[in-house]
Amino acid sequence: MAPIISVKNLSKTYGTGRKALNGVSLDIMGGEIFALLGPNGAGKTTLIGTICGLVNPTGGTVTVDGHDIITDYRAARELIGLVPQELHTDAFESVWDTVSFSRGLFGKPKNPAHIEKVLRDLSLWDRKDSKIITLSGGMKRRVMIAKALSHEPQILFLDEPTAGVDVELRKGMWEVVRALKATGVTIILTTHYIEEAEEMADRVGVINHGELILVDEKSALMQKLGKKQLKLHLDAPIDTVPPQLSAYDLALSDDHNKLIYTYDTRAEHTGITALLGDIRAAGIRFHDLDTSQSSLEEIFVSLVRT
Ligand SMILES: Nc1ncnc2c1ncn2[C@@H]1O[C@H](COP(=O)(O)OP(=O)(O)O)[C@@H](O)[C@H]1O
Ligand SMILES: [Mg+2]
Repeated sequence: MAPIISVKNLSKTYGTGRKALNGVSLDIMGGEIFALLGPNGAGKTTLIGTICGLVNPTGGTVTVDGHDIITDYRAARELIGLVPQELHTDAFESVWDTVSFSRGLFGKPKNPAHIEKVLRDLSLWDRKDSKIITLSGGMKRRVMIAKALSHEPQILFLDEPTAGVDVELRKGMWEVVRALKATGVTIILTTHYIEEAEEMADRVGVINHGELILVDEKSALMQKLGKKQLKLHLDAPIDTVPPQLSAYDLALSDDHNKLIYTYDTRAEHTGITALLGDIRAAGIRFHDLDTSQSSLEEIFVSLVRT
């Protein structure tokens, strides 16, 4: 399958001399949720802005469904909906007018049925006649998404959709994004919340200092780079890890009720069989055990640190 967005060797140096993108190449496949993860200043907004034709690249090319974003700008842009990082809407317009107006900007004929569907999908229908200024922060964000979807784009960019948003609203936003994916829209979101990438994305790209340092399936990424932890739930608390077990990477939980063994999933031997034998020999009894994958957060921190 051909990618819906193809970014090749993209660079951007701002007039200030700031190099915000440095040779970024990336393919986005139709229908996926792609999370672009990186710390503040990494180049996320610049990358999105370039793909959407708001920032002129210094080098490289971008095509959207085969249309070059510079030589074939209108055709490329029409396929894209953008929810920018900064929210700006006319506070005194109604939800309905704001969203309908956005569609008009793309020169598309009126389609009230589509606008109604978008508003219903985003749980804004019963507020369609409300002025923007009367809406809660979460609703305003959903209005921004409705605006971006007003001209029926195939691709939706969400630049930090949940920055500064509380946990409840963030979860609501994730629901919205999942529902959009189900309608076939390709979604690219930027975030500096690892949790968000972990929760939402099919694939994750990590960007730092204008360079895409890694792109992978989320699950493969976590598998490949992750460490696992084995937790043993002890029958009785112990004071310290017994010296006979000092050869293992073991920690005792704060409540002294669990032994936590960290091992590398890439290693040929996990050491678990030997560990369990030695634990038994040390006279420690446990009644349950579970394993957990280390989070994307740990992976991210270890990548960005290097
Ligand atoms: N219009 C601009 N002019 C000059 N420098 C800019 C401009 N926009 C962004 N930058 C710089 O480019 C780098 C990347 O910024 P940005 O793309 O906004 O990163 P992010 O969205 O990941 O936080 C930063 O160092 C930022 O200060
Ligand atoms: Mg940004």
